[in-house]
Amino acid sequence: MNFFHYKDNELYCEDLSVAEIVKKTGTPVYIYSYKTLKRHFEVFDGAFKGLPHIVCYSCKANSNISIIAVFGRLGGGADIVSGGELFRASMAGIPPERIVYSGVGKTKEEIKDAVKSDILMINIESEAELNVISRIAEQMKKEIRVSIRVNPEIDPKTHPYITTGLKKNKFGIIWEDALRLYKDMAKNKYLLPIGVSSHIGSQILELSPFIEAVRSLKDMVYQLRDMGIGIRYLDIGGGLGITYKDETAPHPEEYAEAIKNELKDTGLTLILEPGRVLVGNSGIFVAEVIYVKKVSEKTFIIVDGAMNDLIRPSLYGAYHEISPVHRRHSKKIKVDVVGPICESGDFFAKDRVLPQLKEGELIAIHGAGAYGFSMSSNYNSRRRATEVLVSDDRYFIIRKRETKKDLIKGESIPEFLRV
Ligand code: LLP
Repeated sequence: MNFFHYKDNELYCEDLSVAEIVKKTGTPVYIYSYKTLKRHFEVFDGAFKGLPHIVCYSCKANSNISIIAVFGRLGGGADIVSGGELFRASMAGIPPERIVYSGVGKTKEEIKDAVKSDILMINIESEAELNVISRIAEQMKKEIRVSIRVNPEIDPKTHPYITTGLKKNKFGIIWEDALRLYKDMAKNKYLLPIGVSSHIGSQILELSPFIEAVRSLKDMVYQLRDMGIGIRYLDIGGGLGITYKDETAPHPEEYAEAIKNELKDTGLTLILEPGRVLVGNSGIFVAEVIYVKKVSEKTFIIVDGAMNDLIRPSLYGAYHEISPVHRRHSKKIKVDVVGPICESGDFFAKDRVLPQLKEGELIAIHGAGAYGFSMSSNYNSRRRATEVLVSDDRYFIIRKRETKKDLIKGESIPEFLRV
């Protein structure tokens, strides 16, 4: 359910014509719908009613501070994976007691910053990291709330690049090691193990891997409680999939029901780290057709957005729906939609049947709200796109298009190279 729709064959975001927005902002541009973001959060959060829980939005999916602020205002927290995301979450006004921090390579500086900010907990991903956190706690003479990210060794049946809970993945700590480390921590006066966490992967379209993971984590909590370690938080990560094409993803209500069943009467506060399911279908990416190029059998629609703006098709072979911003009854043809970057991997769609498009026309790439802008780069010295948030009939530029000067920000030419 989202608030992008056609009215008189013209694409709208809520009450605004996409073409009208683009007249002001230019292309390429990301456009997000506030109403959709809010609805997705409320449906997800509401589905867990009855079970103490915190929805910690996974900032990596879309880290614009306005997007993080949308969820903060609605009562959400943040799942962060770097000092940069901690900064963003704080700038967006997320209270520290609603921030959890995962990641396999937290630096000492990042850990210290997280401790100074007094976030809810750090999810530890290795014994080496635990030792560093323990030393930092001693130096700072400060108690640090932690959980261990357990690797439950569950196959979420998703793209190999986004599977994280298998033994061969770099994430988390296997069960036996985790138990031993919890035991060690119980003797440490500065480390407070308050949670158990995990995250098994992303774009997961079945409930069973989640249920399996929750059961296994619950088992661990009980074992720990038997050892006198009072775990209060169970963090099950994110990963719920969405529909990009014709996949059927579990509804958040079904997902919540299954999890609630497992956790009722456990006295645990559930932490959720959804990213994609909140923002994915809340955003589109709009680009303009620069050229239509015919090469023997093939037609290339060359647009002014590229893989540096939205890398998912190039990186994962991901499918994103593409539609013309102005619908007309033109003949449909098979095309490749590509960007201007000097790589054959720079495409948004291959052999896609689309209405015939002309130079100057606008296209919308759907499902672009998650891992779109947040994975963008300046490759080929392309300025990163504008981001716009629409609410009813108003729009707000939440990130300006980069300037040429931004492209060389921080760069300098050493004296000996100057002319
Ligand atoms: N928590 C942790 C610890 C994570 O690593 C992730 C995502 C999430 C939560 C949020 O997962 P979500 O609910 O969004 O599935 N760039 C890829 C996705 C990478 C996901 C990485 N971790 C893509 O474009 O599909």
